[in-house]
Amino acid sequence: MHFFPEEASTFARHVDGLYLFLILVTAFFSLLIGTLVVAFAIRFHRKSENEVAQDVHESGVLEIVWTVIPFGLTMVMFFWGASVYFRITRPPGTALDIYVTAKQWMWKLQHTDGHREMNELHIPIGQPVRLTMASEDVIHSFYVPAFRFKRDVVPGRFSVAWFEATKPGKYHLFCAEYCGTRHSNMIGWVYAMTPADYQAWLAGGAPGETLAASGAKRFVENACNTCHGDQPGARGPSLTGLFGRRVQLASGQTIVADESYIRESIVNPQAKLVAGYPPIMPTFQGLISEEGLLQLVAYVKSLSPAPAAGAAAPAPVPAPTPERKASRP
Ligand code: CUA
Repeated sequence: MHFFPEEASTFARHVDGLYLFLILVTAFFSLLIGTLVVAFAIRFHRKSENEVAQDVHESGVLEIVWTVIPFGLTMVMFFWGASVYFRITRPPGTALDIYVTAKQWMWKLQHTDGHREMNELHIPIGQPVRLTMASEDVIHSFYVPAFRFKRDVVPGRFSVAWFEATKPGKYHLFCAEYCGTRHSNMIGWVYAMTPADYQAWLAGGAPGETLAASGAKRFVENACNTCHGDQPGARGPSLTGLFGRRVQLASGQTIVADESYIRESIVNPQAKLVAGYPPIMPTFQGLISEEGLLQLVAYVKSLSPAPAAGAAAPAPVPAPTPERKASRP
């Protein structure tokens, strides 16, 4: 159907179905009401100069009908929309992790194996892809119309979202949030490839060190290891096996250690203090770039063995060794 852009993700069909329904309902009632306005204006117009208007008594049946039908229609829209929304917002457990940094005016994309791209993203089809996105400056929005995928990238936090491409091809990537002078140039391409082509793409080109290995370097650069180094009597909690686990906080609450929690604990360590540890960690706000934060998060993730719910695919090297993972499933 050329009415909508190409459908190239698992969401596309569902989004378009809902959208088509909304359009049909809107078109039906616009036509019905428009036609009745004209018809009634002709049928009931004043026929003589001194015609007296008649009283009209309301019809209970009519009132009920035009209340119940729109109520039913809006409820269909609500539940249908909610089910599509849940499908889109819940990342599946196993997904290919991609780390995105947005800045005026470009997209920087990092693969866990160390491949980096600028305004271009290569992904396999038939596999969920999970984006963890951060902005260096203002609000941007990662938008791939063919995937019906759009998610704001807001400074000061991570936006996590996912999609699964279904058709090989080259698709437009836009920034869909006005972000300054060259906003309209903040565009790129997503290359959806068959798994075999994707493996070939991964194999070509020097990937550099893995994202987790870059994170491990930053971990040492910022002296995080002096307190979180797993040594006996360490001043900070161990990070081994932390990702995806429930953490007991000093406030009495518990929280699941996800990407956003790890990020917050770096830039605002006192916000969610782990039970049993003093509030001595300094903030690293402004000292580590968003890209660096993403690398640190990838490193902490790599310290957890099995992919917990919502976690990454293969855990890369746990120590700062520069070797590279051979392949991924
Ligand atoms: Cu970035 Cu508009």
